[in-house]
Amino acid sequence: EDFAGDGVWRYAAALPFEEGVSLPEGSTPLHHVPRLESEVGVERLRVKHEGMNPTGSFKDRGMTVGVRVAKELGVGRLACASTGNTSAALAAYGARGGMATLVLLPAGKVAAGKIAQAALHDARILEVDGNFDDCLDIVQELAARGEVYLLNSLNPFRLEGQKTIGLEILEEFRADHDTYPDRIVLPVGNAGNTSALYKCFRELVQSGALDPADVPKLTGVQAEGAAPLVEAVEEGNDGIRRWPDVETVATAIRIGNPVNAPKALPGIRATGGTAVAVSDEAITDAQRALAGEGVGVEPASAASIAGLRKLRDQGVVDADEQVVCLTTGHLLKDPDAAFEAGNDPEPVPNDAEAVLEHIAE
Ligand code: F0G
Repeated sequence: EDFAGDGVWRYAAALPFEEGVSLPEGSTPLHHVPRLESEVGVERLRVKHEGMNPTGSFKDRGMTVGVRVAKELGVGRLACASTGNTSAALAAYGARGGMATLVLLPAGKVAAGKIAQAALHDARILEVDGNFDDCLDIVQELAARGEVYLLNSLNPFRLEGQKTIGLEILEEFRADHDTYPDRIVLPVGNAGNTSALYKCFRELVQSGALDPADVPKLTGVQAEGAAPLVEAVEEGNDGIRRWPDVETVATAIRIGNPVNAPKALPGIRATGGTAVAVSDEAITDAQRALAGEGVGVEPASAASIAGLRKLRDQGVVDADEQVVCLTTGHLLKDPDAAFEAGNDPEPVPNDAEAVLEHIAE
C-alpha cells in the first residue's frame, strides 16, 4: 500500500525517490467553470482544485516527499511554522510515517478546520503570541540548533513535490485542448508554490520537453493587507520589504515576509507574469462565485480568481487568454469564513405546513 506510481508519484522521474510516505496525493481535478469563464471574459478558464488532496490542500504534495526524506535521514522530530495548512499536512504525513510532529501557529489566526486536523493527527501544537513570520523565525532557530527537522517550504524537498502541480496542469490541459495554458494564476503567501512551478517549467525547458514560448505566465495574487511580493514586483525590487503588520480574511496567506521571494520573483519576471493585490471583499466575492459553480474553497484560494478578475478589468490579461487558476485549499478548512460569506440557516417549526409557509415567504 505505498501508492507508488499514483498521483504525485506518477512523476517520480522528476522527484528524488521512486515512492514516498503517501496517502496518496495529487491527481486533483481541473474544473470547467463556464459561468465564471464568461463573466471574467477570457477564452478559457480552468480551476485546478488542490483542496481535493488528502488533507485538503496542496501542501500534501510537498509533504509526501519531505517526510520521506526525513525518514531517510532518521530525524527525530518534524516541525513547521504554519498559517494552518502546512501544519495539518505535516501532522498527517508525520503520523503516516510514524514520526513526532511539532507545529508553531500564530495564536488566534488559524482557521478551525486546520487546527482540528493537527490536533487529531497528534501534532504537538504551540500557539505563538505573534504572526506567522515570527513563528517561522523561531522554528528556523530550533532547526539550526538541531532540535527539529524543518518542513516549511524553505525545505527544498517540499518544493520538489509541489512541482507536480505544474506537471499535472500542463499534461492535462494539453491532453484536453492540444495546447498549454497562457497563464497560471495562484495565491502567494511564502511564495513556495510560485518557486516550485518556476522550477518545474525550467526543468522542462532545459530537458527539451517544453518550448520556452509555451511556459505559462506565472501570476501571483496577495491580499491587500499582506502584499510585500506585489510591492516588490510593482517597484521592480530584487528583494522584498518585510511587512511587520499584516491582516486579511485569507488567513492562509497572512504573511509579511515571503521567504521564497528570491526564487519566486525571477520566475514571475522571466515568464512575463505579474503580481496583484486584492481586497478582502473581492476575495469573498470570488469565493462565492466559485461556490456557485460547485467548487468549495477557502478564502486564500479564491484570491486567484479575484486576482484574475482584477487583471482582466485592468486589461493586463487579454480576452483571448487561456488561464488556469489554482485553488489551494478546501472550503471545510475555514468553516467560519464560509458562514460569513454564505447564507444563514433559518429556524423553522417542526411541521411540514409551517415549513411550506416559510419557504413561500
Ligand atoms: N493557499 C493556501 C490555502 C495556503 O495554505 C498557502 C500557504 C498559500 C496559498 C500560499 O502558498 O506559501 O507557497 O505561497 N500556507 C502556508 C501554511 C504558509 O502554513 O499553511 P505559498
